[in-house]
Amino acid sequence: MDPVLNPYAPGAGTPPPELVGRERLREDVRIALARIRSGRVAKSFILVGLRGVGKTVLLDRLRSEADAAGVVTVRAETPENRSLPAVLAPQLRLALLKLSRQAQAKDLAVRGLRALAGLAKSLKFKYADIEVGVDFDPEGGLADNGDLEGDLATVLEQVGLAARQAGTAVVLFLDELQYLEEAQFSALIAALHRCAQQLLPVTIVGAGLPQLLALAGNAKSYAERLFEFPFIGELTDLEASIALEKPAAKEGVAYDREAVSEILRLTHGYPYFLQEWGKHAWDVATKTPITLRDVQSASAEAVAALDESFFRMRFDRTTPKEKHYLRAMAELGAGPHRSGDIATVLGKAVGTVAPLRQSLIMKGMIWSPAHGDTAFTVPLFDEFMKRILPGSDWKRE
Ligand SMILES: Nc1ncnc2c1ncn2[C@@H]1O[C@H](COP(=O)(O)OP(=O)(O)OP(=O)(O)O)[C@@H](O)[C@H]1O
Ligand SMILES: [Mg+2]
Repeated sequence: MDPVLNPYAPGAGTPPPELVGRERLREDVRIALARIRSGRVAKSFILVGLRGVGKTVLLDRLRSEADAAGVVTVRAETPENRSLPAVLAPQLRLALLKLSRQAQAKDLAVRGLRALAGLAKSLKFKYADIEVGVDFDPEGGLADNGDLEGDLATVLEQVGLAARQAGTAVVLFLDELQYLEEAQFSALIAALHRCAQQLLPVTIVGAGLPQLLALAGNAKSYAERLFEFPFIGELTDLEASIALEKPAAKEGVAYDREAVSEILRLTHGYPYFLQEWGKHAWDVATKTPITLRDVQSASAEAVAALDESFFRMRFDRTTPKEKHYLRAMAELGAGPHRSGDIATVLGKAVGTVAPLRQSLIMKGMIWSPAHGDTAFTVPLFDEFMKRILPGSDWKRE
């Protein structure tokens, strides 16, 4: 079929032609943000899920829906090796500058910018990566204690006061939260908790890998009061078929039933894989409807494309020893696996490989669904590991 018209969109953060199956959550978020904006109690949301399930595109959609409702939104990622204040400061500045353009909120927003200047100055010693434009001089004693939790709470309070005065809310959309250091994540949650107690209209909507559930550690009871942690997962069979068929139908192209079933079987309903298979099946097919045979001949290309991008990107970030650990996990199947069993495959004691396991968790490659269990954060990664390190030669290294 004409590749120019190919509707599918595999890619990290690439909006799908049809965002399927998240309607309920979008409605829940809409209600929560409207309540928070009007000074009512509500829990916000942190989306948790494996790689490629659609957290980022959902977060972006939630953001544009909040924008359309008149909420002041900012968006940031918390990548590895960046400090939280460094990520937040420029975004909070943007939000405050927006609020300062509204006459009734101007004074409070300016005070917020002074607080932000205080925070940037006092935390710069601890977090050298903070870089933010300073629009107003700091005010002595305002957010300049040099303590992240306290200073951040003060800045967020000022943001909340200005937002309330402007009749809106400020919502920070934060992706890849699992990379935050535990102490910084705790400080953020505690600061937000202080705002929530005063019913100030400021909050975050977050997303990240499942290890962020453990990260909430110190701040656990606050976190549970402030946030729901909905699990974003694979699509049901019905949703997955809609994700495939609807975009094609818009171009006048249909699927045979067996063709759809085969794609569902191969992708397990994971959004990223659905987009990849849809794309290649489309390119292989010469006419509508797309048949089982089309899907079968497209599969090798779909797998190769995933290997080169989705899987490869993760694989390349690991050391040889870490690859070894992941390969041993794959030997046991999809998982989750007992950490002891993985060590056994490696012929090592659990304690000896514990640091490897920990560094893979920090890198977001694996996580621990229950004490002593280990699972991949990337769906179908076991099959990839076996493709890239086939046979048993890897054992000898
Ligand atoms: N609800 C959905 N329906 C159909 N396709 C979807 C849906 N959600 C996401 N996708 C597609 O899945 C792919 C992955 O989406 P996205 O990058 O948002 O995942 P992610 O969970 O953020 O992954 P990662 O953890 O790697 O950042 C994209 O190609 C996107 O278009
Ligand atoms: Mg993402």
